[in-house]
Amino acid sequence: MYTIIDKIQLTEGIFKMIIKAPHIAKSWKPGQFVVLMVNEIGERIPLTIVDGNTYEETITLIFQVVGKTTALLASKNVGEQIYSIMGPLGKPSEIKRYGKVALIGGGVGAAEILPQARALKQVGNYVISIVGARSSSKLILVEELKSFCDEVHVCTDDGSYGFKGFVSDALSNLIEEGYRIDYVYAVGPVPMMKAVSKVTFKHKIKTVVSANPIMIDGTGMCGVCRVIVGGEIKFACIDGPDFDAHLLDFDTLESRLKTYIKHERKAFEDFMRCQCHG
Ligand SMILES: Cc1cc2nc3c(=O)[nH]c(=O)nc-3n(C[C@H](O)[C@H](O)[C@H](O)COP(=O)(O)OP(=O)(O)OC[C@H]3O[C@@H](n4cnc5c(N)ncnc54)[C@H](O)[C@@H]3O)c2cc1C
Ligand code: FES
Repeated sequence: MYTIIDKIQLTEGIFKMIIKAPHIAKSWKPGQFVVLMVNEIGERIPLTIVDGNTYEETITLIFQVVGKTTALLASKNVGEQIYSIMGPLGKPSEIKRYGKVALIGGGVGAAEILPQARALKQVGNYVISIVGARSSSKLILVEELKSFCDEVHVCTDDGSYGFKGFVSDALSNLIEEGYRIDYVYAVGPVPMMKAVSKVTFKHKIKTVVSANPIMIDGTGMCGVCRVIVGGEIKFACIDGPDFDAHLLDFDTLESRLKTYIKHERKAFEDFMRCQCHG
């Protein structure tokens, strides 16, 4: 069992949880994730490890409520316990001195670029982050990113804060303005990662994305997380989740994410209904 030490709502539907998990806190690396079960009969969901504190023996997870399990997790409070947390899983991100790097986070993806920003800055890169959300009230972690990055560019779809438009447009504009960018790392919804990849392909900039297929075991056993990279099948849980964006088949990833959409919607509706009725 894993005790919730702290819980903060960052914006509507996005929560930060600090959880006691000593073995993960001391061994995780940026880019890795956990697979957790909120209770004994629940499903297993992957969440990125955003931070770890070896002294406090805690890890930080930041998640968006999109369905039944994330809603169930959000309903847990400080002092309550998570049934199982397995990790750290996946290959750590490649952290090295690239030069000028751009980290792109769409929505809750802003949380997932935080550990990258910290690690890439530590090894001497000039770090730019570009984060986006639908509107200013949905933006998260802008101040935290400012403490690790040399530049933080903020975008909103409705123009209520920063650049009006998508993160991929903001990246494209920076490149067109003459910014030399040596490496791009993007995390967020598949259409966003695909759009970023299209921009950087044109400019021949090495780009890595964190693939987010449905996962079950997280250890290479079930095959559910398979993705196509350069024409080959890879398992995101053990071969990734980071992959070369210019080789990843985004269309297959997106269509596989929709496989269980009807069941997921029904499970979410049922969960919300029975929760409301106590
Ligand atoms: C390696 C990895 C790391 C992740 N890290 C984070 C994280 O740090 N924070 C976070 O909020 N989410 C993260 N995700 C996504 C997260 O695992 C899903 O949102 C979660 O499993 C949804 O579970 P659910 O039961 O609440 O919703 P479901 O009922 O399973 O899904 C509801 C809807 O959400 C969407 N969805 C489901 N799974 C995913 C997915 N993997 N990616 C994108 N959309 C999905 C689909 O549209 C689906 O119909 C990560 C996924 C992977 C593979
Ligand atoms: S989640 Fe089962 S093989 Fe990757």
